[in-house]
Amino acid sequence: MGEQLKGKVCLITGAAGRIGRALVERFLVAGATVIAVDLSAPNAEGADNMKCDQGDPQSILELEEAIRKKYGRVDCVVNNGAVGGHRCSFHEKSLDEYEEVMRVNVRGPFLINQAVLRLHLKNTERPLSIVNMASTAGRIATSLASVYSMSKHALIGMTKNIAQEYATQNVRCNSLSPGYMEVPNVQGFSKEELAENISKSPLKRGGKPIEVANLALFLASDEASFITGADYLIDGGRTA
Ligand SMILES: NC(=O)c1ccc[n+]([C@@H]2O[C@H](COP(=O)([O-])OP(=O)(O)OC[C@H]3O[C@@H](n4cnc5c(N)ncnc54)[C@H](O)[C@@H]3O)[C@@H](O)[C@H]2O)c1
Repeated sequence: MGEQLKGKVCLITGAAGRIGRALVERFLVAGATVIAVDLSAPNAEGADNMKCDQGDPQSILELEEAIRKKYGRVDCVVNNGAVGGHRCSFHEKSLDEYEEVMRVNVRGPFLINQAVLRLHLKNTERPLSIVNMASTAGRIATSLASVYSMSKHALIGMTKNIAQEYATQNVRCNSLSPGYMEVPNVQGFSKEELAENISKSPLKRGGKPIEVANLALFLASDEASFITGADYLIDGGRTA
């Protein structure tokens, strides 16, 4: 494996989660200095672990200040932290769920991207790559997960706007959209629903966190230098 991220300071949110852990490990192997962030410090070996509530503006300001003092910059960010909400019909969704899912999944990347852009705009000589973790739920309607789906549609919209607005300032911004993943405790799904999901996938399986991490790594690295404003499906062909 190459060292595509050698010399890069990479911020990864949701680093204690199922995909987050794979992202941290993969980025470390690629030579990055990894700042691993989650609600409580994720204890990721080899990373600089920090805690932050990504939906809280004060918490983000404190994270930004800590990064400014220690590193002075961020070269890549993977906005991976998110919450799923409950599985129920649209008309049954509570306002509390709406507020929390939007707070974490949209306001979180909004605040974090503003913070890394503020750091970057002081000196735009080095490229900044922003990678937002969306979902197939951000591309198509998703039964019983409408609020989560709405939040991921918004994240893809954020991706395109940042890409367009900062392209001339050495910033690339892309998202990736995983489909059903083979991870423990897939929220709220019955065994039958999981089996149905797998049977409808052309590759007849769910994705593995390392496969998502490999795509995020490519998008974060300079190898993706002509790619911006794009959303990459990684769903085993499920939405084809
Ligand atoms: N697992 C899947 O099947 C799947 C499919 C498509 C997309 N995704 C996306 O991939 C990403 C990671 O998914 P996962 O399965 O690893 O989820 P996960 O629940 O295992 O991890 C998410 C992490 O986000 C953190 N988090 C939640 N609220 C936070 C807050 N307010 N501040 C800081 N951190 C917070 C959690 O503590 C957790 O560690 C998410 O963006 C998710 O939407 C997952």
